[in-house]
Amino acid sequence: MKGLILSGGKGSRLYPITYTNAKQLVPVANKPVLFRVIEAIRDAGIHDIGVVVGIDDNARQIREAVGDGHQFGVAVTYIPQEAPLGLAHAVKISQEFLGDDRFVMFLGDNVIQGGISDLIRRFETSDWDSQVVLTPVDEPQHYGVAELDESGAIQKLVEKPRQPRSNLALVGIYMFSAPIFQAVNSISPSWRGELEITDAIQWLVDHGYRVQPHIHRGWWIDTGKPIDMLEANNRVLDEIEHHISGYVDRDSLVNGKVTVGKGAEIINSVIRGPAIIGEDTRIVNSYVGPFTSIYHDCVIEDSEIEHSIVLEHCRIVDIPVRIGDSLIGRNVTITRSPIKPKAHKLVLGDNSQVGIL
Ligand code: DAU
Repeated sequence: MKGLILSGGKGSRLYPITYTNAKQLVPVANKPVLFRVIEAIRDAGIHDIGVVVGIDDNARQIREAVGDGHQFGVAVTYIPQEAPLGLAHAVKISQEFLGDDRFVMFLGDNVIQGGISDLIRRFETSDWDSQVVLTPVDEPQHYGVAELDESGAIQKLVEKPRQPRSNLALVGIYMFSAPIFQAVNSISPSWRGELEITDAIQWLVDHGYRVQPHIHRGWWIDTGKPIDMLEANNRVLDEIEHHISGYVDRDSLVNGKVTVGKGAEIINSVIRGPAIIGEDTRIVNSYVGPFTSIYHDCVIEDSEIEHSIVLEHCRIVDIPVRIGDSLIGRNVTITRSPIKPKAHKLVLGDNSQVGIL
């Protein structure tokens, strides 16, 4: 089998973080979501992976970060997509890479509990033409939605329906065999101008191909919005193995599931897990609370932070109120200003959001 990861698109719901960062490279528990996707596919025994990327700066960042895949033990082929014209369009342009092989398609911004090894094994040993993963959600109108018949077979799939007929959302993991190419070449763009993968799968169902649903019972997160990133961060921090490689001084207290990266220093501080402190980051006279990921080369001094993600090269110094529920981009400085008049002095990118006490 081959793997196909979709990493094009703009990530506009994660602005301003994704003005300068590909959304698939935003880290969850200090590892880019895309790396977690590659590892999940590799761990399922698939080593030949196509990565669909745009033709913008995000694509350059992804190529730079992932390279030829050897750091993950896989071989990566990049497939440029001229514009985000839909998930089925991404399949269409990947036909040459995929050939006649069965393949798994994984959206590069999705995180799922428990990996995909079992799903792949089930598909590989079956004669199904496709396997789709479904999970019950509270707001199905934001997803592709599946309607099953009494026997549990797929009857209808609709992309982001206004009035969903079930609460079963399509998770961003799909398995296909060669007939999918006939499907993606037969459908037309939807009202939003995209070639929808839901329409292509519906085409398979309508033409008598066997599409097997699998209901996923663990957690699954589409990291589209900042709140989803924080939620994914919580879940992953709670599940990964933790280790202390950096330095923790005698005046500090580190408890719960905590990782302290190489070269990091914890001085006179409290770190309450689950939390991760990146390489060469310094935490001084501070409190880092549960569900917090601080990336590499940051400084947190005389401050308190919890339930947050902080990207690399940030400085948070001498902040009198606790920072919580926050997603803070690269190279951000938050500090007290001695300059009069006394005021909150902000330099924020477009589409930033700040909540002040
Ligand atoms: O997350 C699950 C949902 O993903 C499914 O329930 C929907 O049926 C499915 O259409 C998809 O919906 P989204 O609106 O979340 O898709 P999004 O536009 O966010 O794209 C998902 C990923 O695929 C993202 O990493 C960008 C990439 N992509 C997207 C498009 C439209 C491409 O690489 N090329 C594209 O043309």
